[in-house]
Amino acid sequence: MNRIVIDCNKKEGVISPELHSHFIEFLGSCIYDGIWVGEESEIENYGGIRKDAADALAALEPPIIRWPGGCYADTYHWRNGIGERSKRPVTYNENFGTFERDNNHFGIHEFMELCRITGAKPWLNINLLSGSVGEMRDWVEYCNRREETELSLLRKRNGSPEPFMVEYWGIGNECWAGGGNMTAEMYAEEFRKYSSAMPLCDSRNPDSSFSMKRIASGADGNKPKERVEWTRRFFKALGQFRQPQLDAMDLHFYNWNVENPEDTDISFSEEGWYKVIESCFELEDVIKEQYALIQEGLSGFPEAEGFFPAAEPKCDLVVGEWGNWHGSSFKSRPALYQQCTMRDAVTTALTLDIFHRNCNLVKAACVAQSVNVLNSLILTEGNQTILTPNYDIFMMYKVHRGAEKLSLHIENAAFENAGTAENIYVFASEKGNHVFVNLINADMTKEQEIFLEFADGKKLCPESVQTIWAEKASDYNSAQEPDKIRCRQGVMPAGREGGFLYSAKPASVNVLSFIVM
Ligand code: AHR
Repeated sequence: MNRIVIDCNKKEGVISPELHSHFIEFLGSCIYDGIWVGEESEIENYGGIRKDAADALAALEPPIIRWPGGCYADTYHWRNGIGERSKRPVTYNENFGTFERDNNHFGIHEFMELCRITGAKPWLNINLLSGSVGEMRDWVEYCNRREETELSLLRKRNGSPEPFMVEYWGIGNECWAGGGNMTAEMYAEEFRKYSSAMPLCDSRNPDSSFSMKRIASGADGNKPKERVEWTRRFFKALGQFRQPQLDAMDLHFYNWNVENPEDTDISFSEEGWYKVIESCFELEDVIKEQYALIQEGLSGFPEAEGFFPAAEPKCDLVVGEWGNWHGSSFKSRPALYQQCTMRDAVTTALTLDIFHRNCNLVKAACVAQSVNVLNSLILTEGNQTILTPNYDIFMMYKVHRGAEKLSLHIENAAFENAGTAENIYVFASEKGNHVFVNLINADMTKEQEIFLEFADGKKLCPESVQTIWAEKASDYNSAQEPDKIRCRQGVMPAGREGGFLYSAKPASVNVLSFIVM
């Protein structure tokens, strides 16, 4: 029996809604077919944007959507994606085996329309590799300039009189690999130029609440030695001479599953199940390590000389890409297309809980990717739009946005006082007069009983249970069976001796809501 003790008097930080953000890229069929079908399509659309996919995303209320990449950002020229669609140049996309032509019909206006429909804030990644400082300046002017200039008037002629006021600007993507194979020092030099040259638009106007964030390309979370070097040396290089504006660092981490060719997105053994579950936890250590390196780096910045005081250096840690990456996706067409089974749903829940638990260290995180690529929430097949169980996890977890993390511990005979019991993972938060408890049973085959107790004597009354599980851990939703796995109402926990008893199905994710009386 696992005994979990939650202390509603110990609040440990606020969960930033941005931890539930998204990433989309022209890769495989993420954009074309997944999000963009074109106005002429027989598939229902909003001016070309695939209606079912946009509606499904809108229902999730995505806080941020990051675009156009990823690697694609490094060869993307924004001017190709404006103006009359039939006249836009056709370019070629070689990223990650996409090998397709891009007619550039999905450009900045179409992306902003997707953000408008879904209510998301845009995060644009600029082209640091084949672009230029001037091209970036022009893109910012085009998007954010309120005053009449050649570029803001061009935006107006292209249908958007109001500035887009894009707040998040990624300066380069994975500059240690596809983004230039740079050293940390080289990247720091580039970052200095791009950050300093970025137009301010309204962001330094004291009357405007708007502020533009410059996001640096963070480390490769999957390279234990290199990632430490990257962050340490980037900050060291920035510490020499004056610092450009730096608001956040964008760490990427994929839960790679490539060692065993027999293990695919939809076919795995029990060993394969536990391998993928266990390896997703590395991200928690990486977050702690990278947060500490950022603080160490900031503290090494010298004090500014002269009369004008420098602002306190601050840089948030964000995770711009995360998700399961199964080796089988390298062979799939469209490129990097993966199915999502309960194994992916459980790791998606575990990863979101890593962000929740570390809400004081990480401010935003984007799942890679929302549609048709890797750890997707939405898959499309012809005219069908399929919601994966990952989608349900994001939906179930919405309750935690803006809530306060609660202190808890698990006691069980084998794992006395450890933060986890065997294959049971818990997270709890409080918002208003509600307490929400995530219970993940990562045991592939065994149902487990959990006893929940509230330490501070507060009276709580169970209100609802949302649960997701499947007959088989390798089940998934497909065009033939689109609702094979769906979140449903679960059995309410039973009141017992000052606590509540809950039975969690094997390979299941459960969100229990309580009202504080
Ligand atoms: O998400 C797929 C790719 O993974 C992205 O384009 C790149 O940034 C990362 O390596």
